[in-house]
Amino acid sequence: MDLKTLIRTIPDYPKAGVQFRDITSLIEHPEGFRESITQLAAPFRDKGITHVAGIEARGFIFGAGLAIELGVGFVPIRKAGKLPGETIGQNYALEYGVDTIEMHAGAVKEGDKVLLVDDLVATGGTAIAAISLIRRSGAVLEDAAFVIDLPDLGGADKIRAQNINTHFLIE
Ligand code: PRP
Ligand code: ADE
Repeated sequence: MDLKTLIRTIPDYPKAGVQFRDITSLIEHPEGFRESITQLAAPFRDKGITHVAGIEARGFIFGAGLAIELGVGFVPIRKAGKLPGETIGQNYALEYGVDTIEMHAGAVKEGDKVLLVDDLVATGGTAIAAISLIRRSGAVLEDAAFVIDLPDLGGADKIRAQNINTHFLIE
C-alpha cells in the first residue's frame, strides 16, 4: 500500500506559506492506519525496547498503536501544564511558533530503552526537545520513528546529529 497517497496536503495552514501534511486522511483509512503501525514496528520487534514515548498530539495516535504492537508501555510527552504529576520540561521552537513539552519525572529511568515516535519531522525542534527529556531521565534512546519527514526543513539531519537512528515511512 502506498501510504503517501493517503496523506492529504492543506495549503496555508495554520498560516500562509505552510504546506500542512495532514495525517487524519491516513488514520481514517483502516488498512492504511494498520499498515503504518506495522511498518513503524518492523525494525523494533526484537530490539529490547521497553517503552514507546509519543509526542502530543499526533504522536499519541501512532505511538499508542506502536506500543500495543510491540507489547510495551506508552509514555506521553505532553504540551506544558497537561500532566498531573511531577514533570521535567523542555522549551522548543516550531515551524510556526514556540512551545514547551513535558514528561512525568520517573516515567522512564536508567535501564529502560525507549523508542521515540511522532507523526512528522519538520524543523526537528520538537523531536530534539523530546530526545533531551528522555535522555535526562537516564534511559537509553537510540531510535526515533516517524511517519513523515519534510526533508527540505533539515530536521532529520539534526536528529541524526544527536546520535539517533531515524526511521521514516514517507518523505
Ligand atoms: C507537529 C508535529 C510534530 C511537530 C513537528 O506538532 O506533530 O510534533 O509539529 O515540527 P518540528 O519538527 O518543526 O518541531 P504540533 O506542535 O503542531 O502539535 P499537534 O500534534 O498537537 O498538532
Ligand atoms: N508540523 C510542523 N510542520 C508541519 C507541516 N508542514 N505539516 C504538518 N504538520 C506539521
